[in-house]
Amino acid sequence: MLTLNNLCVHFPTKNGLVRAVDDISLTLHPGEILGLVGESGSGKSTVGKATLRLLDVTSGNIVLDGEDVTHATGSGLKPLRTKAQMIFQDPHSSLNPRMTVGRIVAEPLVIHTKIRGHRLTETTAKILDRVGLPSQFLHRYPHELSGGQKQRVAIARALTVDPDMLILDEPTSALDVSVQAQILEFLKELHAERPRMTSLFISHNLAVVRYLCHRIAVMYLGKIVEEGPVAAVFSNPCHPYTKALLSAVPLPQAEQNDSRIRLEGDLPSPVNPPTGCAFHPRCQVAVAGKCDVEPPNWVDLGNARARCHLIEEQAE
Ligand SMILES: Nc1ncnc2c1ncn2[C@@H]1O[C@H](COP(=O)(O)OP(=O)(O)O)[C@@H](O)[C@H]1O
Ligand SMILES: [Mg+2]
Repeated sequence: MLTLNNLCVHFPTKNGLVRAVDDISLTLHPGEILGLVGESGSGKSTVGKATLRLLDVTSGNIVLDGEDVTHATGSGLKPLRTKAQMIFQDPHSSLNPRMTVGRIVAEPLVIHTKIRGHRLTETTAKILDRVGLPSQFLHRYPHELSGGQKQRVAIARALTVDPDMLILDEPTSALDVSVQAQILEFLKELHAERPRMTSLFISHNLAVVRYLCHRIAVMYLGKIVEEGPVAAVFSNPCHPYTKALLSAVPLPQAEQNDSRIRLEGDLPSPVNPPTGCAFHPRCQVAVAGKCDVEPPNWVDLGNARARCHLIEEQAE
């Protein structure tokens, strides 16, 4: 459904070039939910926005459902806008405060279809019902809604064009835990109903990714450092960064050993990323003369893969 090939998104700033996304390759198969995780600033949102071409791509390419959309412009972006939709963390700022819920949800239908009048209201009400909001919400304004209701409206709006691809950028991070659970449950149901629907689920919450996603990709400073099926990566994380992330969260029934790895220090600046393996300054097992010098290669771990010198040595 979606392939990112050597995707780079760099931002020229007065302080230098920000390598927000630096050579990322990912494949999402139809029906799959891929969790993209990593600390704040690792480049997750940039991947999402670039995929929908809300940002320009520096190099590499994006293929959505067999079509190269990397450099699409103007009307060339139209198929992309109906095939893929993005849902953002803050539903409040993504909804126009001056529009009723009915108009917000109907707008993509007006832009992309010929549905009008009574049929438009009917279709809009149906979609709202699908996200668990009764038709009286059609006439309400965003400020009259709770956070969870607003996020449901944002999801409803995304669903109007019947997208095959959803990019969800921390869609539940701003919500209360109980509301978060309802939205996750809803996303799970939605996927069960629509076997072709594919999601890129961006999150820093590993417990949520474990619950919802089939595969996980771990990002560090613009690069993916480990990727594989959720079951494999959670039971046997290989990259020291993945291990550190996993040991920082209490996971139910986790196969965690009690030797917790603490993640110390902050994420370095993507303007001057560390040499070698970008994680080496924070890595407790980094080998001087190697990890700080050579960028690590991907190591094939069966159905998973990781990028780390130590794993490469063990594999040899
Ligand atoms: N428009 C921009 N201009 C300059 N730097 C940016 C821009 N957008 C994001 N960045 C930088 O790129 C890096 C990755 O950001 P982002 O993709 O938002 O990370 P995440 O979503 O993982 O928190 C950060 O260092 C951020 O400051
Ligand atoms: Mg983000």
